[in-house]
Amino acid sequence: MTEMKPVTEATAVKAPVLPDAQTVTDVKHWTDSLFSFKVSRPASLRFRSGEFVMIGLLGDNGKPLLRAYSIASPSWDEELEFYSIKVQDGPLTSKLQHIKPGDQIILRPKPVGTLVHDALLPGKRLWFFATGTGFAPFASLLREPQTYEDYDEVIITHTCREVAELEYGRQLIENIRQDEMLAELMGEGFADKIRYYPTTTREESPKMGRITDLLKDGTVFADMGIEGGIKPETDRGMVCGSLAFNLDIKEILEEFGLREGANSEPKEFVIEKAFVG
Ligand SMILES: Cc1cc2nc3c(=O)[nH]c(=O)nc-3n(C[C@H](O)[C@H](O)[C@H](O)COP(=O)(O)OP(=O)(O)OC[C@H]3O[C@@H](n4cnc5c(N)ncnc54)[C@H](O)[C@@H]3O)c2cc1C
Ligand SMILES: NC(=O)c1ccc[n+]([C@@H]2O[C@H](COP(=O)([O-])OP(=O)(O)OC[C@H]3O[C@@H](n4cnc5c(N)ncnc54)[C@H](OP(=O)(O)O)[C@@H]3O)[C@@H](O)[C@H]2O)c1
Repeated sequence: MTEMKPVTEATAVKAPVLPDAQTVTDVKHWTDSLFSFKVSRPASLRFRSGEFVMIGLLGDNGKPLLRAYSIASPSWDEELEFYSIKVQDGPLTSKLQHIKPGDQIILRPKPVGTLVHDALLPGKRLWFFATGTGFAPFASLLREPQTYEDYDEVIITHTCREVAELEYGRQLIENIRQDEMLAELMGEGFADKIRYYPTTTREESPKMGRITDLLKDGTVFADMGIEGGIKPETDRGMVCGSLAFNLDIKEILEEFGLREGANSEPKEFVIEKAFVG
């Protein structure tokens, strides 16, 4: 019989620890191509709602395989949430989509980004324009108290191909409306400022079409009872989608007289890519 030895520091086999490792606490799959997950938050990490960080896993070559990810949780939250695509042959997400609670991911604690309140001049109505996973930074900003302190109205448009791809955003907004802790933090009735405008392009839903087309033909303004469209004096915009989407929205906002801003030079709208390619 093998003698049982007490486990001491010398005999214990330590699980390999990744550099900048954080532990996965929750994973939720929304569709075949979308999932969200939460990880522990490094005690030292400070970020502004709307910013992104580099996250990833160890690659087969033993080196970190990192990609940019918007933090979907607000700056005050104890955990960090992410909303992710699953690209079947994607170097990172072909693996990342299989994470489970207790697993570790790498998170470089250097948040950056332009979708932040600091990059906009004061205004009255804030527009969030998202396609696909471009909803992620707005999932953070929709739970950020400053959003409601600074604006009278917050309009979130989300365009996806199919109805199921809207579900993460739809549930998030529904939960914000019902969350008593958020109401305490942000003031009773804060959620009445949110106006949600989801659209689909390839599956039947109550509102069909690309948001760009619905802006150009005035449908959005008619639906929302907004007279005179978007105005540089009152309206501010944040945009997050594919490169083509971002360019199209930029052109539309500029036609309305808004100018693109940056952290160093706040103006009327800001843009971030939801992905490259
Ligand atoms: C500033 C920034 C923030 C980002 N934030 C997020 C985020 O919050 N959530 C997220 O899922 N991705 C985000 N991305 C994209 C992310 O960095 C990766 O591209 C994605 O995780 C796929 O990685 P991959 O290695 O599997 O495939 P990659 O080799 O990176 O991508 C392969 C191809 O998949 C497509 N693709 C990649 N990402 C997406 C996407 N998000 N939506 C639709 N198609 C995509 C593109 O066609 C791309 O060429 C962000 C990118 C940038 C630049
Ligand atoms: N989502 C899926 O079901 C799916 C399935 C297979 C492969 N993929 C691949 O995954 C990648 C990303 O797919 P995705 O659906 O997440 O992102 P996406 O192609 O950027 O489309 C997301 C939404 O944005 C709309 N859109 C795209 N470009 C626009 C523009 N210039 N102006 C206004 N609206 C615009 C799309 O409308 P339109 O439908 O009109 O383009 C769609 O409703 C692509 O490379 C795609 O081939 C996705």
